[in-house]
Amino acid sequence: MCGIVGYVGPRSAVDLLIPGLARLEYRGYDSAGVAFQDGDGIAVVKQAGRIADLERSLGKVEVRASNTGIGHTRWATHGVPNTINAHPHRDCTGTVIVVHNGIIENWLALKSELEGRGHEFASDTDTEVVAHLIEEMADLPLAEAVREVMRQAEGALALGVMRSTDPLLLVGGRRGSPLVVGIGDGENFLGSDIPAFLEHTRKMAVIEDDRVVAITPDSVEITDLAGNVVETTERFIEWDLEAAEKGGYATFMEKEIYEQPKAISDTLRGRINQSGMVSLEELGHLDERLREIDKVFVVACGTSFHAAMMAKYAIERWTRLPVEIDIASEFRYRDPVLDRRSLVIGISQSGETLDTLAAVRYARAQRSLLLAVSNVVDSALAREADAVLYTRAGPEIGVAATKTFTTQLVALQLIGLHLARVRGSIDEGSIMNLIKGVRQLPELVQQTLDRAGEIDAIAAKFADTRDVFFLGRSGDFPVAMEGALKLKEIAYTRAEGYAAGEMKHGPIALIDENVLVVGVATDSRVRAKTLSNLQEMKARGAMIVVLAEEGTEAEMAGVADHILTVPASPDLIGTVTAVVPLQLLAYQIATVKGLDVDKPRNLAKTVTVE
Ligand code: G6P
Repeated sequence: MCGIVGYVGPRSAVDLLIPGLARLEYRGYDSAGVAFQDGDGIAVVKQAGRIADLERSLGKVEVRASNTGIGHTRWATHGVPNTINAHPHRDCTGTVIVVHNGIIENWLALKSELEGRGHEFASDTDTEVVAHLIEEMADLPLAEAVREVMRQAEGALALGVMRSTDPLLLVGGRRGSPLVVGIGDGENFLGSDIPAFLEHTRKMAVIEDDRVVAITPDSVEITDLAGNVVETTERFIEWDLEAAEKGGYATFMEKEIYEQPKAISDTLRGRINQSGMVSLEELGHLDERLREIDKVFVVACGTSFHAAMMAKYAIERWTRLPVEIDIASEFRYRDPVLDRRSLVIGISQSGETLDTLAAVRYARAQRSLLLAVSNVVDSALAREADAVLYTRAGPEIGVAATKTFTTQLVALQLIGLHLARVRGSIDEGSIMNLIKGVRQLPELVQQTLDRAGEIDAIAAKFADTRDVFFLGRSGDFPVAMEGALKLKEIAYTRAEGYAAGEMKHGPIALIDENVLVVGVATDSRVRAKTLSNLQEMKARGAMIVVLAEEGTEAEMAGVADHILTVPASPDLIGTVTAVVPLQLLAYQIATVKGLDVDKPRNLAKTVTVE
């Protein structure tokens, strides 16, 4: 996820690009840059860090008034977030300038062909191939060159392109990543999102997938990839700026819950090959060592620890390797037995959680193999590890983790299946069947989100309930744990996640008619047993909400006061879908209580103290 902004018109482009970028900082903020027409050429100023750092850099250079420019705020997916990898990127001659949001899946192949033809690359990004491809098409109109790039590039891309030989022209292209045009009076704008230009115009047009747009001060022309002109439908934006930054959602957390299908697709992008087999380029160089591993440890904190719980079930089931999981702050103090043949997976969306870092550093000292799962490119955890699988969820602003959690689950499922393939622990057909299930997740999560309305009544009924237990077994246990944590974090309700079968060994003493029990019963292998445990709670007066797979409602009817359903998925894969109604339940309860869900009291998004 990154932010693109472009301007063409009579005003000074840079003066408009910087505030536009600041409005898009919620889309990414590890580096930023601008490019603007400067005499016969195009000047580029870019900088690692936030927009404020870019402004300081701009203060040091002479910026001549320029009427055409593009800017970018980055959330790294390829290449560390330094100044060289910051956008805009240029071709060999500095004539073509490109900003990009998305992932070009075949960039390595394109790059090696371009290098073979003598192009020199300055950065480690996938984006730079676009500039060099357009360089080779100097004779073509810029819009046609961008169409050709869109025909060659695979994956998700929103592009903003300018060429020094075409002053007063900006070209955008879109597939998969968002791109909108702001239509002004004698000036036009390009943006990843409406806040980029909302101060200047309320008229806009959405660019659809596989379309290219050419804008000048007085014209907006949209074409399909064959070059046919497509009619532009103008819309009027009613939102105020704050609503626009949240994409029309009431809060960032709600927006991030609804971004999960896209975030999961991005996590999967390029990691499953044409034959439907898992293929993790990031881990490829470690395959030999992965074959020698005899034990796995997974360490994490908070929500990420719940992803570790799921990873234990998945990796043990698919690889038959023993897996231990630890809350990172406890790991070092139990003197875990680690050596060269241990694989240690550290999970942290921020990549900066001090306890997790300390745990992996301890493992490093025992010469164990280190793998990181993080959402932040080049985070401290990523730098510590032998390999990293990035979750590509984009920045998460709500303090309570949602899309970073579901993408962690997906990344860990891919790691589990990669290990199974490399070690030959299950046959390829079975792996491909599981991958089929993983691939359906964006669609299944979307279907679950589409039914969010069913949760409203339950949230209203139980908003004042003081004590809630979330119960599950096997793959449903981490889901129950996460459901309870979400409710604690944002609704301040006393909630506990518990192994359903363990309730009878103590906590059942707390059950009476004032307690709500949310039973997670989506895992078909243990459904009957979970149901028996829920009956035990009902017999003691508890109110029961059951989260079940579609088609099993009749089984649940005897015990449940309310039933929520999710579409069926293979065991363990379905944890991703199952957690979504629980995110929504916590969200709705917090909303009914009128709480600030994006900034819950006493919590921090990144915890850098032990
Ligand atoms: C904080 C956040 C949680 C998060 C935990 C671990 O407590 O409030 O939402 O799960 O840190 O964060 P990490 O960045 O390591 O995943």
